[in-house]
Amino acid sequence: MRILSGIQPSGRLHIGNYFGMMEPSIRLQDEGEAYYFIADYHALTSTHDPAALRENVRNLAIDFLACGLDPGKATFWRQSDVPEVTELAWILSCVTPMGLLERAVSYKDKVSQGLSPSHGLFAYPVLQAADILIFDSNVVPVGRDQKQHLEVTRDIAQKFNDRYGEGLLVIPEPRIREETAMVPGLDGRKMSKSYDNAIDLFEETEKKLRSKIMKIVTDSTPVEASKDPEESYIVQLYRLFATPDEVAEMEASFRAGGQGYGHYKQQLFEHVRDHFAPMRERREALLKDAAYIDDVLAEGAKKAHAQARRTMDRVRAAVGM
Ligand code: ADP
Ligand code: TRP
Repeated sequence: MRILSGIQPSGRLHIGNYFGMMEPSIRLQDEGEAYYFIADYHALTSTHDPAALRENVRNLAIDFLACGLDPGKATFWRQSDVPEVTELAWILSCVTPMGLLERAVSYKDKVSQGLSPSHGLFAYPVLQAADILIFDSNVVPVGRDQKQHLEVTRDIAQKFNDRYGEGLLVIPEPRIREETAMVPGLDGRKMSKSYDNAIDLFEETEKKLRSKIMKIVTDSTPVEASKDPEESYIVQLYRLFATPDEVAEMEASFRAGGQGYGHYKQQLFEHVRDHFAPMRERREALLKDAAYIDDVLAEGAKKAHAQARRTMDRVRAAVGM
């Protein structure tokens, strides 16, 4: 089984990215051949400052390794080190109906948030399809917001196979875990760096982490009153970090009443802090080891490149080149 996923280096990572994409990817690296990459071509749709892009790539590499990506098990590289994906993206463009891209929710979302609609942004799902298809990927772990992009990928692969030959491209499956498919942000909407509602994976200080968590939106139920745990973003986040017993205890305490929301936020804060403590420690060490990061990405690029070339030989021959 080949597992593949990518993530854009477009700023600081948050716990939605962690539970939606990084943690499932890290878990899967023991179950098959894992391929994970930093999608810097994709980030060009929104990051136009070269120094920022470079820094974001490095920080993302450090954070992913700190969280447990094991370069001994997974191939880990920077997307732009395998430029064949852009060639495949062009070839796939020529089998992609305009209507498929016009329906893409993520494109419409980004434009409505004020991102200028470049051709790159519009064609983003085709490049993503190329990322996935060039590695003959079977399984793609992502958060729910990527579901449509995976459907587009499957459609494009099928169109290509219909035109040039069944079985030429492997049709991939998304792997979306129900419990972590949509991590809520401080305001209850999807946690996202674009909504200013994110808890960073590595907040600069404990104090900052705590004050973020204290900002989680709550209703005005009085301290003594019973509260509905199903309606609370605190509980939803707590479920990601606490044991089932701890969650049951918090839920019972919500129903019983007698505690203010601040009390529960403090419990959540302590769990988040402790959960990421070992990763924070590894990250401190990696921050000092620039050569190691370069080596990992160079080694990953070499392996990814070899695989991508093999697929491109097959694709070029199939289309008549
Ligand atoms: P953002 O919305 O902050 O820009 P990205 O779109 O860069 O995040 O997402 C990177 C990865 O993290 C994707 O696989 C996406 O599905 C996942 N992801 C992002 N936000 C969440 C969330 N709130 N819950 C679950 N997964 C998420
Ligand atoms: N579009 C994905 C995101 O915003 C990133 C991405 C690019 C990706 N190429 C991919 C994810 C291939 C999975 C597979 O998070």
